[in-house]
Amino acid sequence: MRIGILTSGGDAPGMNAAIRALAVVGRARGHQMIGIQHGYAGLLAGEHAELEADSIEGITRQGGTILGSSRCLEMMQPPGQRAALERLDAAKIEGLVVIGGNGSLTGGHILAGLARDHGSPLKVVGLPASIDNDVGHAGLSIGVDTAVNTIVDACDRISDTARAHKRCFIVEVMGRNCGFLAMRAGIAAEADAILYGEANETEDQIVERLRKMLERCFAPGRHKKRVLIVKSEGLSFPVARLRQRVQEALNEIVKGIDVRETVLGHVVRGGDPSALDRTIAQRLSFGAILALEAGLTDIMLGWEPPFGVGRETLDPSVRLVPLDEVLAETARLLDGTSPVIQRRMAMLAQVEAILPG
Ligand code: F6P
Repeated sequence: MRIGILTSGGDAPGMNAAIRALAVVGRARGHQMIGIQHGYAGLLAGEHAELEADSIEGITRQGGTILGSSRCLEMMQPPGQRAALERLDAAKIEGLVVIGGNGSLTGGHILAGLARDHGSPLKVVGLPASIDNDVGHAGLSIGVDTAVNTIVDACDRISDTARAHKRCFIVEVMGRNCGFLAMRAGIAAEADAILYGEANETEDQIVERLRKMLERCFAPGRHKKRVLIVKSEGLSFPVARLRQRVQEALNEIVKGIDVRETVLGHVVRGGDPSALDRTIAQRLSFGAILALEAGLTDIMLGWEPPFGVGRETLDPSVRLVPLDEVLAETARLLDGTSPVIQRRMAMLAQVEAILPG
């Protein structure tokens, strides 16, 4: 087969590990492996070339994506989607592996449907890659583990200086509308409070919650040296305003403790992938080549999806899930109705009051 690979949307550490694993496994099994540059935009512009073994050596450990990425508006409209299929057919690409998050996998699902309707031989397989961990049935998407580690490392560093000055810090982290990064990293970094959009709290409710937390932190007899609040960017109000309101609340409890804010931003998306992200990328990629050989299309490979959703593969940790089910569950993750989110919030609600120790 001629198999095309593209990375699309926000890059995620581990995308390169997936590119190399796909190319190495595909070539070893007799396929021609084609790298499509700059995501769907590059596909539409005809930017693709064969992936030679020597050009991909050593990329497993690199962050970002050697293929480049894009957020392609044209691919969101039917004319662009039809043009993408025409490009793939003209390049005689029979298998396409889309590595990316929600928008990218939606594009893959649409392409698979168009191919079916128009008698194209194209088969499409998705690999979830997004630091946000908001892809339905993905378990852990490629890039999430590294992003969590980066946030924990940043919070540890901030905690060092916070303790030196006895300060309170609010650290805002990426994740778009999904609070997973804030939750997972916040607990690991010994945060005193974790703020995320899925809880649907108003700004006043959050400030009230933080006031109670601060009262506990500075209760008589306690000698707490730093307070850490991890805030997901999915909460729409500005972190600077929150800092000011937390400072006002704190001043009423104890005098002389500064509140500072740090927005980690794109720092969270870069860096060398962790060993776990490399492993996930490599094992999902192996499954993707086997799936294409088996003639499967319109599917995603997921790493240990919750509740054992999807079909088994040779790999006990990798499961096959139809892309329409993936996208439906993604919508439930984002509107908060997924059991995965419900459980995550229920668990956090249990520990919230004891976070400050
Ligand atoms: O989806 C990944 C992500 O990094 C989000 O966490 C963030 O909100 C967004 O992408 C930022 O996108 P951009 O790099 O296009 O500003």
